[in-house]
Amino acid sequence: MAQIIVINFGSQVAHLIARRIRELGIFTEIKPYGISANEIKKLKPKGIILSGGPSSVYEKNSPLVDKKILELNIPVLGICYGLQLIGKYYGKVIPGKLKEYGKKRIRIRKNGNLLYGLKREEEVWMSHGDLVTYLPKNFEILAKTDTCPIAAVENNDKKIYGVQFHPEVAHTPKGVDILKNFVFRICNAKKDWSISLAPKLIREIKEIVKNDSVIMGTSGGVDSTVAAALIHKAIGKKMHCVFIDHGLLRKNEAEAVMDSFKSMDFENLYLVNAEKIFLERLRGIAEPEEKRRIIGHTFIEVFEKKVEELEKKYYGIKFLGQGTIYPDRIESAQPTKEASKIKSHHNVTLPEKMKLKVIEPLKELYKDEVRKLGKELSLPKEIVYRHPFPGPGFAIRILGEITNERLEILRNADYIFIEELKKAKHYDKVWQAFAALFPIKTVGVKGDARTYEYVISLRAVTSFDAMTADWAKLPYGFLEKVSSRIINEVKGVNRVVYDISQKPPATIEYE
Ligand code: XMP
Repeated sequence: MAQIIVINFGSQVAHLIARRIRELGIFTEIKPYGISANEIKKLKPKGIILSGGPSSVYEKNSPLVDKKILELNIPVLGICYGLQLIGKYYGKVIPGKLKEYGKKRIRIRKNGNLLYGLKREEEVWMSHGDLVTYLPKNFEILAKTDTCPIAAVENNDKKIYGVQFHPEVAHTPKGVDILKNFVFRICNAKKDWSISLAPKLIREIKEIVKNDSVIMGTSGGVDSTVAAALIHKAIGKKMHCVFIDHGLLRKNEAEAVMDSFKSMDFENLYLVNAEKIFLERLRGIAEPEEKRRIIGHTFIEVFEKKVEELEKKYYGIKFLGQGTIYPDRIESAQPTKEASKIKSHHNVTLPEKMKLKVIEPLKELYKDEVRKLGKELSLPKEIVYRHPFPGPGFAIRILGEITNERLEILRNADYIFIEELKKAKHYDKVWQAFAALFPIKTVGVKGDARTYEYVISLRAVTSFDAMTADWAKLPYGFLEKVSSRIINEVKGVNRVVYDISQKPPATIEYE
């Protein structure tokens, strides 16, 4: 059971808070803002954090918190929007009065419990429009800035605490100390979330699966591979591992993935070559969502066929193993239930009739926790630190129609980019990097001849969790080398561009 519950009023910041507290060794979960005081009571947390969020407490339909949660006598910390909710219920908030973004200095008049150990002045990161201007006397104001009269506050009787700035971001250097004060000093939480998770997870898999078998669809990515490794450690050769090559993979990828699985001693390993059916169905399709839909459906169909074949051969396949991680499954904790659908990421959800029970050993973990676990399981470094690769593969990196020629060009260009990133030791410093092919041709000159060829775009981003991302500031010399190698070595390309868009407003992938 989670000791700290973060109530979500804006999904990205809520994730960051939960991750920071987990890093302190405390199991923390995110819940949607609609959660009631009774539901919270049942979860028996030691503390509650009201996250920040993009709304204003005075907007129509802005997300609110059940006021009774503030009166359960469980310590509550409001961060930014969370503090403004406290202000709305107990004091006064002025909407849009002060737009404060970026670095600010707080002056601390009293440390109290929340700011214990901090100096008289500290740097913090602010990002708010509304402003809490008044709280009753039993709320003690701990800190202010030159423009924000209530930057940190505590009420030890009511056990309500708040900060206007963001302690969860790296730009607040003492932010972690403040979270530590809340979690350990105020909530009295005890460390229960260690990095040595493997034995516990393996035990749980054994308890769930008992004598049955598990079939696992793996993509070769870190999540599904770590999940497969755990299941394998738990049940050995009763795990069947299926890898579908849809023909949209990187150069030599299928072989590399199979080799790494073999090195992990997986006994029942199946490579399904389904290139033909995928490419046939994608022929002439240019619309991104249509491509994703076709790939998702075909994937299920191919996987289902393989499961049926294996079920006939081996009895007792009762479970479908999946590498779902925490951010994948907390849709229920999204701040708005109608959050707009940007892209339909595909995950294998099998039809009802298959009656396989799903087992997801990583469902409570963040990506960096999965990587730590992979290291703990001694998985090959190439897997643990592999960049994420989307299920639809090159289909969403070849903009427009997918043809064999375009696939070949992209495979070669992408290979060069990744090879150079590894050689120059930039690979591990970026979250994700890849090449994409624009379906347009531009004029160039090679030797003395005019060329009319494709444009390759290089994308490399830094990120914590793919929800926001910045373009990686790779050195010019490095980009120049990659560009000239691609133009010289890949037939059909005469121009290379580097993508300098942030997410948001762009996304990491192109489609
Ligand atoms: P975007 O493009 O939405 O991507 O900024 C965020 C992260 O998700 C990955 N991605 C996918 N992963 N199936 C996946 O398994 C998909 O359909 C898919 N689409 C995007 C993307 O590579 C990035 O890491």
